[in-house]
Amino acid sequence: MKVGWYDFQEWEREEVEQCEFDVETYSESLSKHNFGKDHDVITVFASSKVDREVLDEVRPDVVCTRSTGFDHIDLEACEELGIEVYNVPHYGSNAVAEQAFALLLALSRKIPSAVKRTQQEFSHEGLEGFELDGKKFGVIGTGDIGRKAIKMAKGFEMDVIACDPYGDDELEEELRFMYVSMSDLLRQSDIISLHVPLTSSTRHLLDAPEFDQMENTVIINTARGEIINSEALLEALEKGKVKAAGLDVLEAEDKMEKIKQAHEDTCQEYDINCKLINRDDVFVTPHNAFNTIEAKQRILETTFRNIRERPEENRVNM
Ligand code: NAI
Repeated sequence: MKVGWYDFQEWEREEVEQCEFDVETYSESLSKHNFGKDHDVITVFASSKVDREVLDEVRPDVVCTRSTGFDHIDLEACEELGIEVYNVPHYGSNAVAEQAFALLLALSRKIPSAVKRTQQEFSHEGLEGFELDGKKFGVIGTGDIGRKAIKMAKGFEMDVIACDPYGDDELEEELRFMYVSMSDLLRQSDIISLHVPLTSSTRHLLDAPEFDQMENTVIINTARGEIINSEALLEALEKGKVKAAGLDVLEAEDKMEKIKQAHEDTCQEYDINCKLINRDDVFVTPHNAFNTIEAKQRILETTFRNIRERPEENRVNM
């Protein structure tokens, strides 16, 4: 079986070279400027744009994304062209929920400033934080990652509320949290953590009307950048509706490559993402939540299985 392996990274080399498939690797993402032919299977990471134009050229039988999210794949085009699509569910619930708390604790205890300070002088002046104990933690999306975040929040003795159109009553009882409406969650939460997939109905799920219902709220987003309207977030930070934000994902992450060398001033004008990155009350990490030794091993194992067995439970289109 011929496999086109896009977004190839060095840590994947040993296992990819030893696998049973005939693999051609590309360190760049799949795009209309970068694609190979005659591949039965193509496998990509979330940075590849698997759109109709590319699919028309490549015409694989199967697309396997090495991610949980599949918003970068045109499922309608795959359906029409008879292409099966598989993802890697479940691999990252620990990794992503832990990253959500890493961002939250970094904000609540001003860890980056504290580390920088200690390199200059041993003083805690201006580094006062806040405790998580007793705070209201609002979880949007109680799937794999959301429920892991709920368990962690319970460990910090937080009061957890959640919303999900497919709420799970047994889970609610087992983990001792409460499902509430979206607007109650927005109004009551001290901290909101997003754990929903990016779909047409979750794009800009948090926009100006949602931020207006908040008061001094901390936002954590490890899901997808486009779930938040970044301009509205910036305004909410200015107005104090949002106190701080921890973001592992940004809108239009593909643009970030182009501005990595940009001077800070140019950067400020150029892109909303830079305005967020350069604020003291926003911590941004580079879509890094999945990036643990354990999660990456699970990604590779499941991807090889998806290519080999095409298991029904990992198929995202019918
Ligand atoms: P999942 O499919 O197990 O859970 C998603 C939950 O969101 C479901 O329970 C669903 O009913 C709920 N949901 C859908 N629309 C909603 C809405 N409008 N309001 C409230 N709830 C809604 O997915 P999982 O594994 O928890 O992953 C969530 C997302 O995390 C992925 O789709 C992916 O985009 C992101 N992710 C990010 C990573 C990173 O490195 N930053 C790594 C892995 C996943």
